[in-house]
Amino acid sequence: MKVLVTGGCGFLGSHVCELFNKKGWDVVSYDSMTKYELKRTGYGTDATRDYNWNYLKGLGVTMVKGDIRNLEHLTDRTEGCDYIIHTAAQPAMTISWEDPELDFSTNVVGTYNVLEVARRRKIPVVNTSSIHVYGNSINESLKDGETSYIREPVEIPETQPVMVGEISPLHASKMSAEHYVRAFADMYKVKAASFRFTGIYGERQFGGEDHGWVANFAIRSIFGLPLRIFGTGKQTRDILHAQDGAMSYLNFFENPIPGVYNIGGSSPHKISLLECIHLIGDILGKKQEILFEQERPGDMRYFICDITEAKKFGFNPKILPREGVSKLLKWIDENREVFNIQK
Ligand SMILES: NC(=O)c1ccc[n+]([C@@H]2O[C@H](COP(=O)([O-])OP(=O)(O)OC[C@H]3O[C@@H](n4cnc5c(N)ncnc54)[C@H](O)[C@@H]3O)[C@@H](O)[C@H]2O)c1
Repeated sequence: MKVLVTGGCGFLGSHVCELFNKKGWDVVSYDSMTKYELKRTGYGTDATRDYNWNYLKGLGVTMVKGDIRNLEHLTDRTEGCDYIIHTAAQPAMTISWEDPELDFSTNVVGTYNVLEVARRRKIPVVNTSSIHVYGNSINESLKDGETSYIREPVEIPETQPVMVGEISPLHASKMSAEHYVRAFADMYKVKAASFRFTGIYGERQFGGEDHGWVANFAIRSIFGLPLRIFGTGKQTRDILHAQDGAMSYLNFFENPIPGVYNIGGSSPHKISLLECIHLIGDILGKKQEILFEQERPGDMRYFICDITEAKKFGFNPKILPREGVSKLLKWIDENREVFNIQK
């Protein structure tokens, strides 16, 4: 069996490539090796994407440098594939405000091209979407707890209205991509799904303040740098380790029911920013310095996935936050030299 993973050198994509490789699949990583969001973290820009490239190459994954906005090149490279997993994206809200054209061309045109390839080749495809499509009107239904926001009912299903409240170009591009997924499933019977992912974290995540907050806190804690929180720190998610996230794509391939699915840890993985910082400090045995800043516009204060629908095709996350965060911290500690931090 052969799978092409767009964004294979990204954080989530690299875990998907690794999982399918371990399961004996022939894996192609298709990535443009863009570093725009990494430039802003300051964490070893040049080394980071290359780290994932070298890691996957070492596993025997076929590495292709290519841009999903180029339909013919992408079509060419999917020769013989049985499945496409689409994780390539402009994933950061902040960058979508600053460069909406990049956001649109990558997330909308790029996803359209991926779907068109799946249609031509008659193979299943999963588009990686985000809980951001729900919009931040959820903020209006929250109570203020001591260390986290609280909501009843705790978990939110896919029937929750989408795009309510103030939306950014990232919301618009991710939602447009989902509409195309549905159109290709309805009109051309492509076995296509969109996975609305919650916050993902894990090894090989070079998270910064724009994207990947668990890794950002973990990296800064290890290097003894102050942590910046935008807002109260009570923002809450059901964080999902990337290995569990990668497994969801394999589950779908084994039981490909087209649709839209929440993919998150659900209630057992519920954690706020403050609680996560406390957990990291507890594992490392240190107390971090925290700086509070103004909440960022468009910030969603709460999301805990109801994953009943995804369980129907076999999704079953297993790595709880303490175990997953410990794995992430161990990896950062063992790879200190990759980060461009002198401390
Ligand atoms: N990390 C999270 O917490 C999170 C949460 C919800 C949804 N998601 C979604 O998961 C997916 C992967 O996110 P990630 O955190 O791994 O991001 P990432 O930035 O680490 O990976 C994205 C990869 O896509 C590649 N890419 C960008 N533009 C490309 C193009 N035009 N052609 C080919 N490759 C291109 C990048 O080089 C990068 O390797 C995205 O769709 C993101 O929106 C992530």
